[in-house]
Amino acid sequence: MNLKIDYNHMMADFIGDKGVSLGEINALSPKFQAAHEAMVTKRGLGKMDFRDLPHNQEGIVQDILAYRDAMKDEVDAFIVLGIGGSALGPMAVQQAINHPYYNELPRSARNGFPRFYVADNVDPERLTYLFQIVDPCKCLFNVVSKSGSTSETMSQFMYIQHLLESKLGKEGARRRIVCTTDEKNGNLIKIAKEEGYKTYFIPSGVGGRFSQLTPVGLLPAAFCGIDIRALLEGAAVMDDLCKNAEIEKNPAYIYAVLHFILMQKGVNISVMMPYADSLRYMSDWHAQLWAESLGKRFDNAGNEVFVGQTSVKAMGVTDQHSQVQLYTEGPFDKIIVLLGVDNYRETLTIPKTYQDVGSLGFLGGITHNKLIQVEQMATEYALLQAKRPSMTITFDKVDEHSVGQLLYMLEVATAYAGELLDINAFDQPGVEEGKNATYAYFGRPGYEEKKKELDVRPAKKGEYII
Ligand code: PA5
Repeated sequence: MNLKIDYNHMMADFIGDKGVSLGEINALSPKFQAAHEAMVTKRGLGKMDFRDLPHNQEGIVQDILAYRDAMKDEVDAFIVLGIGGSALGPMAVQQAINHPYYNELPRSARNGFPRFYVADNVDPERLTYLFQIVDPCKCLFNVVSKSGSTSETMSQFMYIQHLLESKLGKEGARRRIVCTTDEKNGNLIKIAKEEGYKTYFIPSGVGGRFSQLTPVGLLPAAFCGIDIRALLEGAAVMDDLCKNAEIEKNPAYIYAVLHFILMQKGVNISVMMPYADSLRYMSDWHAQLWAESLGKRFDNAGNEVFVGQTSVKAMGVTDQHSQVQLYTEGPFDKIIVLLGVDNYRETLTIPKTYQDVGSLGFLGGITHNKLIQVEQMATEYALLQAKRPSMTITFDKVDEHSVGQLLYMLEVATAYAGELLDINAFDQPGVEEGKNATYAYFGRPGYEEKKKELDVRPAKKGEYII
């Protein structure tokens, strides 16, 4: 057993009419069956290429590992330049598997692997300060962009390419840059070919937020010493389960179905709350996957539907002292997905220092492991008492295999929820609109009409200058 998914507290038997009844599930079973058939058909037609990733990458894995072994000793840090789906997965997997203070460890404790950073913003302070702690000449920069045109990533690339060439010359800079992009489309592949950069490809049918199991995630993970074969093996095991048409036997389907039914009742927020620091960024990765895939204005027939669920990131136990008050007594508009761990990698025992002090004595001799697990159970109980839908995904232990399973399950759940909502879970027109507005602001050729739209906006009235 690697993952256990307990959805009892989503059900009406436990939380009354705020939950999902078996009657509701049964009534929708033709819809669930049709959505399953659509998933199978699309997979067969090559329209769900992320489903094949656990099975078709042995050659790529071998190439990545050979490249990693050839390069790792000559660099101090591996730096991802990417954003959104090109950054969140690598961060989540690194945090899940490696030491929480990985970069602060001596190199020997990192098994000889370089430090790891992700530059996923264009805040001018961030890159400047990064180069105060690493020497760019001793870094390997992984430029990751599916479209090859995202302003944030490409601007970072241009800055770093210039910096490296000025210090190392063209030849030296070439050895410090590796690109991950679409094989045919976009500017990055053109540049990579012209400059002779080492390049990995994102399959054209796999979108950014579904790309963690492509070289987008595999290359950074390999450079951090993560077992990428085990990651893919975990995903492959989950793929077998996720082929099942019966929703009770398919963890991704049941996850999506329960969310879908409650969405129809106005539950428009889904909180992911890991009780493990190792899983902290898993909720960031999931927040993008769920929000960007399902938040859509139009359904597949072009009707305005304005669907989706706001994904919220919380942290157990920290947010018990911040958010749980709202989750238990605020509006009935949330599902709380708790992520728990049976076997943490470390055990910490609390000393029996204050046995005779009522409020502290009970802590003496127990472990922090027990404390965090009991606090998670207490939150589950508080949510149950308040009749708030929650489910718990428990890792036996957090390792490559179980992380691969979770990533893949949540990706299939998202795609299946897209089918249930009858929307395209794989596009992001709202994001594109923002990208296009940026291009227009800067007067990029081809965006003249957009620039006109921006210029005719009403004059600002709601501004207060102090
Ligand atoms: O999921 C997506 O498609 C997006 O979040 C992209 O990953 C993000 O916009 C970055 O795009 P690109 O990889 O093309 O630079």
